[in-house]
Amino acid sequence: MTAPIAFWLAGREATGEETFDVTNSWDGRLVGTVSVPTEAQVEEAVAAAHAVRDEFAATPAYVRAAALDHVVKRLTERTEEIAQLISAENGKPIKWARGEVGRAVSVFRWAAEEARRFNAGDAQRLDTDAGGTGRLALTRRFPRGTVLGIAPFNFPLNLSAHKVAPAIAVGAPIILKPAPATPVSSLVLGEILAETDLPAGSWSVLPVPNDRMPALVQDERLPVISFTGSGPVGWSILDSAPRKHVTLELGGNGAAVVLADWSSEEDLDWAAQRIATFSNYQGGQSCISVQRVIADASLYERLVPKVVAAVEAQVTGDPSDASTDVGPLVSEDAAKRVESWVDEAVAAGATLLAGGKREGATYAPTVLADVPAGVTIACEEVFGPVLTLTRAEGEDAAFAAVNDSPYGLQAGVFTHDVQTAFRAHRALEVGGVIIGDVPSYRADQMPYGGAKQSGVGREGVRYAMDDYTYERVLVLTGLNL
Ligand code: SIN
Repeated sequence: MTAPIAFWLAGREATGEETFDVTNSWDGRLVGTVSVPTEAQVEEAVAAAHAVRDEFAATPAYVRAAALDHVVKRLTERTEEIAQLISAENGKPIKWARGEVGRAVSVFRWAAEEARRFNAGDAQRLDTDAGGTGRLALTRRFPRGTVLGIAPFNFPLNLSAHKVAPAIAVGAPIILKPAPATPVSSLVLGEILAETDLPAGSWSVLPVPNDRMPALVQDERLPVISFTGSGPVGWSILDSAPRKHVTLELGGNGAAVVLADWSSEEDLDWAAQRIATFSNYQGGQSCISVQRVIADASLYERLVPKVVAAVEAQVTGDPSDASTDVGPLVSEDAAKRVESWVDEAVAAGATLLAGGKREGATYAPTVLADVPAGVTIACEEVFGPVLTLTRAEGEDAAFAAVNDSPYGLQAGVFTHDVQTAFRAHRALEVGGVIIGDVPSYRADQMPYGGAKQSGVGREGVRYAMDDYTYERVLVLTGLNL
């Protein structure tokens, strides 16, 4: 029997008393057996983070930047190995897993750069009133304290990177809790962090079971919580810890709007291709995958066959095969839930134009039209390879349809008109509007987060750094200004 995969407790390798298995949802093979930290070990990690917080906050920028640069170098060197692990634990096609490692490299690279320029201080003169003569205010940011980062399964490395890298950049200790289905790549990130000179206690990677998380969420030594995952869990964290600084990156049901001016054959081919790819990438298990296509009535009939053809051309199969576009979902249960939502829509009168079939954990890329309002897939986040097609009479109706959702993460608007782009920016109740492309576009340095049920706060390296810190003003007096 091989030894279980260790976790990272205050920067050192450790094992607990229990283990759990991580399996591949494509073929059921064992990916790894992961050690679970005991309650005493979790307490040790939290106490160590709390104890080191002042020392870590005072670490010179070059030390933090050097550690982040080291992660960039090692993730780059180990890209293929880590991509294989991501693909194995998550079921994500290898081409998307390679892309995910590349994005994590970018997150750490941005964090290293931001660490060097962060917090030089903003000066304000105070002698604008007589009482402030000879006074200057200098505002700098200081960490709020240790961050509890809770990562999801869908981007197991990169969404962990989005929690860890900004914390290191500002000198805030972090306890990272990976998703139970996909802890292995985060534990490899721990291996790489252990090669740095970061202070012991400043970081831990702990695969704590979900049912033990409420105690950590309540722990006052962890004043910042950064959570990515499902709405019910996220909002329950906020409700149970209302005095903490909580960032929630929750779901979405991303809309791609195709407006009347996006009408040449070339335009429609591009839109159809992008919609098909990003409705199905990672089996649709991205909060910004395309779930709703809202097309102007003037081009709807021409767009639909192009979308259906592009969706049917998606290659479904073994995620380890480089030609595979769509692999399995994270589990068979996840695929069964998607199947039940599609079945519900079809029973209620929706037209199935492609897909609609499940085999084990794999759900075929699916296109639905004429979906009645009120069925689950019309309102909730499907988190599967399914898109719905809706016709809209003009721009206002299309934008209203985008906003007719409890979610508001990102939206894509296919238009050539810059005035329309600005109108979309104003009208759409989302955290990001992408012009000329799908809602799924994300560059990791951009602010990322939602409106409405999609969450609170923003990630994106610099934005998370702001989030993990607060302003503290220093007033200097008696100056000869
Ligand atoms: C998410 O699913 O929220 C993350 C999407 C991304 O990082 O591309």
